[in-house]
Amino acid sequence: MSSSNRERRSARWFASSGLRAFGHRSRALQMGYAYEDFMDKPVVAIINTWSDLQPCHAHFRNRAEEVKRGIWQAGGFPVELPALSLSETFVKPTTMLYRNLLALETEELLRSHPIDGVVLMAGCDKTTPATLMGAISMDLPTIVMPAGPMLRGNYNGEVLGSGSDVWKYWAEKQAGTISEDEWRAMESGIARSYGTCMTMGTASTMTALTETLGMTLPGASSIPAADSGHARMATDCGRRIVAMIEEDLKPSDILTRASFENALVVQMALAGSTNAIIHLIAMAGRAGIALDLDDFDRVAREIPVLANIRPSGAFLMEDFYYAGGLLALFAELGDRLDRTAITVTGTSLDAVIGKARTNNSDVIRPLESPVSDALGMAVLRGNLAPGGAVMKPSAADQHLLKHSGPALVFRDYDEMDEMIDRDDLDVTADHVLVLQNAGPVGGPGMPEWGMLPIPRKLLKQGVRDMLRISDGRMSGTSYGACILHVAPESYVGGPLAAVRTGDLITVDVDKRLLQLEVRESEIARRLEEWTPPDRTFGRGYNRLYGAHIQQADLGCDFDFLAGTAATPEPDIH
Ligand code: FES
Repeated sequence: MSSSNRERRSARWFASSGLRAFGHRSRALQMGYAYEDFMDKPVVAIINTWSDLQPCHAHFRNRAEEVKRGIWQAGGFPVELPALSLSETFVKPTTMLYRNLLALETEELLRSHPIDGVVLMAGCDKTTPATLMGAISMDLPTIVMPAGPMLRGNYNGEVLGSGSDVWKYWAEKQAGTISEDEWRAMESGIARSYGTCMTMGTASTMTALTETLGMTLPGASSIPAADSGHARMATDCGRRIVAMIEEDLKPSDILTRASFENALVVQMALAGSTNAIIHLIAMAGRAGIALDLDDFDRVAREIPVLANIRPSGAFLMEDFYYAGGLLALFAELGDRLDRTAITVTGTSLDAVIGKARTNNSDVIRPLESPVSDALGMAVLRGNLAPGGAVMKPSAADQHLLKHSGPALVFRDYDEMDEMIDRDDLDVTADHVLVLQNAGPVGGPGMPEWGMLPIPRKLLKQGVRDMLRISDGRMSGTSYGACILHVAPESYVGGPLAAVRTGDLITVDVDKRLLQLEVRESEIARRLEEWTPPDRTFGRGYNRLYGAHIQQADLGCDFDFLAGTAATPEPDIH
């Protein structure tokens, strides 16, 4: 039934003859709107994650106006609702601490206001999953307007990639091979425009997966933020959401097991950020679809890396767009995708892909000629991670994928920070660096500490990768032989808490094994003696977070937000 033939949600606020509706209409008139502007029109929320401390969304003030233009054109009434901007760069201790807060904020903004449909303006890492999680739970017609990647970085004529080149040059600076002036010049050239990180980091991964799920317009996630096509896409989002409200096309119509399976396929073909594992599990949970780590490992074995984008490849998101973007990648994947899945267009993925093709097969590879034979992702288990741990083999030195070495354990980040560059640190390239208390509760917020720095004394010897294990995450722009998301985490008494310096650890990616070579009785004895670190939060958001956050293998959603239990609509008295 079209929304013209059924009562729109917003009509409960505006269309009755009661006293409250008088208040809603008179206050809309107070803002300078005429009856013709808002009466009998679908009301479209624009959730805008702009702020003065969100460089990746610096264009969102303009884009919000461009979205509004499309909504007006199509006969809707746009209302902009600002939400937490969650800058990956500026928010401390980590944006992951606040992903669920933005999800909750999005859901409640939509529930508590007279909204019929929503455009989510998101892009910087957590903003995409967070706003989408909230919108999935609210289940109003929804379309995501991705922020788009920034332009390529440039330093001395050399192309720079967000994050990946920072880690690379920082290692050189620590090794003493580049000067302070060169470091500063690199700092000025690495972020040349608004938009999200332009490597295949968490932002580009999550917007691509959102498009794969069917929640953006076709091709939207690949358009560089500074391209004029990005502004036109924003206006298209405004036009399309009004039609979606008429069609009553909601996330629950679009998000199915098939669309999430498609997202897993694309995640592997992109060698996407390991953070996407947590976010996809959480998003699927909101849609009532059970995804688990084994689903990721299964698909990783079947789908090779096709996107030649840093950190697993050579190019950047701007190159990916010119090579045909995500639609071209879909075309390369052929029948590996379920093309019957539908999208916000109301048509199938097959129709969306249409005649898309690759313009540069070095950037987007065909299935017969992948970027590498290494897996984009692997799920490891063993006595050190009974709930699972993840790794990105394609971004690691291949000789470390099968390795046994003595552990060098850091109890927490501060201890690691204090010790890692000491000249007297007893460490060799064979050691396995272990960081404890970096998990969802212990971090708190599971900070991106998982790419532990290589000790300076080893950097000077030319070592650039070694095995690292933690219950934290790593940035999608990071690389190296980093085993992450160890579950259950050490802070809650997971086996990682039992590891001691000198213990032998074995990693065998082919066998998906992560093993602490210590007798089980000894591990049990150590865990029996173990006491949790002394840290509690007496009040505030941290207290709510600590009481309700779930482990990484469950997507780190709050227990009371996960799932599909109905929440009643607000009374309007
Ligand atoms: Fe915003 Fe990387 S800092 S996407």
